[in-house]
Amino acid sequence: MRTVFWENNRVKMIDQRLLPGEFVIAEFATVAEVARSIQEMYVRGAPAIGATGAYGMALAAQNSAANDRDNLLDDLRTAKTILDNARPTAVNLSWATTRMLDLAEQTVLPNVDDLRSTLLHEAEALADEDVEINRRMGFNGAAVIPTDANILHHCNTGALATVDFGTALGVIFACQEQGKPIHVWVDETRPRLQGARLTAWELMRAEVPMHLIADNAAGHLMRTGKVDVVIFGADRVAANGDVANKIGTYKLGVVAKENGIPVYCVAPTSTVDLNLADGDQIPIEERGAEEVYQVGDTRIAPEGVPVYNPAFDITPHRYLTGIVTEEGICYPPFTQSLRQAKTAAEARIQRQRQARGSQ
Ligand code: MRU
Repeated sequence: MRTVFWENNRVKMIDQRLLPGEFVIAEFATVAEVARSIQEMYVRGAPAIGATGAYGMALAAQNSAANDRDNLLDDLRTAKTILDNARPTAVNLSWATTRMLDLAEQTVLPNVDDLRSTLLHEAEALADEDVEINRRMGFNGAAVIPTDANILHHCNTGALATVDFGTALGVIFACQEQGKPIHVWVDETRPRLQGARLTAWELMRAEVPMHLIADNAAGHLMRTGKVDVVIFGADRVAANGDVANKIGTYKLGVVAKENGIPVYCVAPTSTVDLNLADGDQIPIEERGAEEVYQVGDTRIAPEGVPVYNPAFDITPHRYLTGIVTEEGICYPPFTQSLRQAKTAAEARIQRQRQARGSQ
């Protein structure tokens, strides 16, 4: 089962707001609805948001009343703006919508229906590539995980955060596939509890040994020698290797360094934004107060309490041992190694597109 997919001219996805209690497939028929699915976090996790954006562009093409190329391109540009504005931090979203729009602008076909099907094929290709990339990244990362490692993991970076398999959790699944014994400390990840609700669900289904911990327990576990490696994903990686990821990641990086514990960010090159020199330029999403003053439907703070709710933080690159990508593990200096990985990935996408075209 894929987290997000196309079926019967609809964008369909697992409604992650309801897990682990209910497993429901939600479906969306317009671009505005797809943007809402991202904003309200039916779908979340940077690569999954990217694939959703690509399907949203295919939907825009399908729903457009245009009967010539110029009008179709106008509708696609409007759709891209709507989708890109859904959430600001994960660069995978605009990376995917840009890839779709670029293809539309570069493809000259006499019939606009052919352009519509080219775009749907591209969205399907992007989703397929995500799964393949995640598997490559998972096995690249597994190489640096010691046997019997106690791994500290933040947020949810599994199949649910991607089209399938996952990024940092993909490393854990790769260890499991290789028969390498490991144990995972699962940060609950306040305020939305992606760790407690989603990562625990995925790891238990896969029968990976784990314990759920309160976020506040992580420092104690690191200081008392119970953590061998810290891994997490990313919503955006700046050119110098600074990482934007789920709120709480930064303090894990600092405490890990203080205790001599290696730290790996696991992210596809689509999450690397070479246009931003450092993490200070990455937009940090602020979300609603209700995510903090209540847990589920239960209010835990007084009525009217003032709340500040940044959804992501920046971990400066000096706290990272390496960044695992589908093109290999990038080590410092990240400015150089990330650029090389990004160039290699772009060349691979071109080769794959040419191979599809010649079939
Ligand atoms: O707010 P979310 O749940 O979309 O945040 C997700 C994360 O922070 C993940 O760690 C990140 O997207 C990488 S997931 C492969």
